[in-house]
Amino acid sequence: MKVIEPKAESAISYGGLIEKLEILRSTLRWASTLDRPQIQKLLGQCNALRDEVMQLSRKERFVNATATATATASGTAARRNTTAQRRKALLDRSFVFEGVFGESPKLLDSLEIAEKAAPTDLPVLIDGESGTGKELMAKVIHANGSRADKPYISVNCGAIPDNLLESELFGHKRGAFTGAASDRSGKFEAADTGTIFLDEIGELPLPGQVKLLRVLQSNEIQRVGSDKIIEVDTRIVAATNKNLQKMCSEGTFREDLFYRLGVIQVTLPPLRERKDEIPLLIDFFGDEAAEKLRRRTVKLSRRLRTFLLDYSYPGNIRELRNIIFRISCLASDTADFEHLPEAIRPETQGPKVDGGGQDQQQLTLADAKKAASDAVERQFLERGLQELGGKVSELARRLDMNRSHLQTLLKKHGLSSKNYRTKS
Ligand SMILES: Nc1ncnc2c1ncn2[C@@H]1O[C@H](COP(=O)(O)OP(=O)(O)O)[C@@H](O)[C@H]1O
Ligand SMILES: [Mg+2]
Repeated sequence: MKVIEPKAESAISYGGLIEKLEILRSTLRWASTLDRPQIQKLLGQCNALRDEVMQLSRKERFVNATATATATASGTAARRNTTAQRRKALLDRSFVFEGVFGESPKLLDSLEIAEKAAPTDLPVLIDGESGTGKELMAKVIHANGSRADKPYISVNCGAIPDNLLESELFGHKRGAFTGAASDRSGKFEAADTGTIFLDEIGELPLPGQVKLLRVLQSNEIQRVGSDKIIEVDTRIVAATNKNLQKMCSEGTFREDLFYRLGVIQVTLPPLRERKDEIPLLIDFFGDEAAEKLRRRTVKLSRRLRTFLLDYSYPGNIRELRNIIFRISCLASDTADFEHLPEAIRPETQGPKVDGGGQDQQQLTLADAKKAASDAVERQFLERGLQELGGKVSELARRLDMNRSHLQTLLKKHGLSSKNYRTKS
């Protein structure tokens, strides 16, 4: 494994982590007594440290992903190499990825544009199908710019009723409309000095478009029902899954606004156009889910893996991520078709080996025996935990087993005694 050189300017580095650990250690070493609040505080610091370690290891994984990926054709191998280099170069320049993962040249193109756009205050328009990572990209742009420590305000223009949207964005004066009981500031004022993310900008009605154009031209807003002009310094990042150019020709989106918003345009490719990234994304989200759900990373049956590699993902990365989280939650050890959402679950033919969740034809007898024995072991432990309300020591006594050996077994099966504790 390659180790990333710790850099002084990056938010987290190995050096920084060790320093924090040392502070924690010396706090503990010199504390003569610790009361509950102090313990709580130290625990909080430990958790923060753990999260930082996870983040760092993700970063490392990001660099190494390409090297470990099995390149099939030599042409692909060469291309992978260059994307790996490009990604590494971004990391070396302390680019903040905000969790963006992937290795397709198109994604790298978008990230490089984002990197150049971020430090400027130019508006950025992100387009792509739903679930391709537009909102994530907006965060990347914010995080890599000079406004990173200033507010980031996200507004979904499609989720707010037309008659309230203007007041939501620009605020209103008391009495401007029924229900406007007092003066209220809008999202633009909240995002002053920072970034506003206008999601689903294609849903903004024409009157709102005029007001937005004014912000872009002169950095000024007016609250609904007020004459007072308020200056704002807000960087605008907008996103859409609509074809704005087409909307312009149909007269539903102002062309002048379109050109102002899209000084820099970033287009995110649908997942079906970057299919060779799916295996990496499956592993990435599998680990993320395991960490969040506090379980071992779920295994995939062979047929499920084949299905996931081939599926068309109309909901793009969001759909893939949701599927992996779902199966990680529902499957015990190995996930199979039955754990998929019903709407996309293929018809199953042929029997399935109990507990193993793999195609029978692809299992050796030894594998099948092991899978069956594992499944029985797990069921047995689960039942014991249920009956004893999660009391591990009692279960160990009942099974005449060493407690720590039992703990190891529980861990192996991803069983947490906490989940069986009966509420008293
Ligand atoms: N390249 C990526 N790497 C990791 N996660 C991603 C990536 N793109 C999208 N996601 C995840 O997929 C989900 C949908 O992304 P989002 O930015 O909300 O999409 P959109 O705004 O285009 O609908 C989020 O959970 C996001 O974190
Ligand atoms: Mg979105």
